[in-house]
Amino acid sequence: MSELKPIETERLILRPYEDSDAARVLDIQGRLEVIRWLGNPPYIPMETLDEALAMIGRWRARHDVDSQQRAYAIEVKDASQVAGTALVMRLDRLEGGFVGEYEVGWHLHPGSFGHGFATEAVSALLDVAFAEGLDQIYAGMFPDNEPSAAVARRLGLREIGVQEDPWYGGDGRLFHTTREEWTAR
Ligand SMILES: CC(C)(COP(=O)(O)OP(=O)(O)OC[C@H]1O[C@@H](n2cnc3c(N)ncnc32)[C@H](O)[C@@H]1OP(=O)(O)O)[C@@H](O)C(=O)NCCC(=O)NCCS
Repeated sequence: MSELKPIETERLILRPYEDSDAARVLDIQGRLEVIRWLGNPPYIPMETLDEALAMIGRWRARHDVDSQQRAYAIEVKDASQVAGTALVMRLDRLEGGFVGEYEVGWHLHPGSFGHGFATEAVSALLDVAFAEGLDQIYAGMFPDNEPSAAVARRLGLREIGVQEDPWYGGDGRLFHTTREEWTAR
């Protein structure tokens, strides 16, 4: 079991989620405007602190079984507030299960949109994930999620395009990069 070490950037601290973040997780995951973009319907906003605690527990457990899986609270230094989440998680193919693929993901509290926090956080997260042995990564999103595609493009991920999403089903806009591409960019 490896400890998730904090990552510092110019404006942010990325750190593991604590149980004491549950109210903020609920405030983020309880918003349709956020969760609408995170997975397939039905879109059911989170309602209770217990659900938030369970989500934090799942993120922790995933890192415990596979240290490349990591979910960070993005804390804004000036505000001492969690702006959102940057994470790397295993991808299971609808047909074929886990074949060594991972995704990078991001979401912010709407009050933290428009400051570059997602791009800054995920850039630092990928630096660490690749330095710690990740070979390649995907990012996928609904084809009409323009703000998320803009994050991927700002990061310099290579756009594959819109195609059948092999992990979640339906159409997805997919991006990909390898450690070599990331370190050479
Ligand atoms: C996707 C999401 C994280 C994008 O948020 P975002 O705030 O647009 O992205 P960033 O944090 O990278 O910020 C970039 C914006 O901040 C602006 N910005 C302001 N100050 C900045 C600074 N100092 N540095 C960098 N950018 C700055 C940029 O110009 C850009 O705005 P623009 O797109 O209007 O040009 C957000 O819309 C979200 O959480 N949506 C709901 C969940 C979701 O869709 N998640 C992704 C699922 S695939």
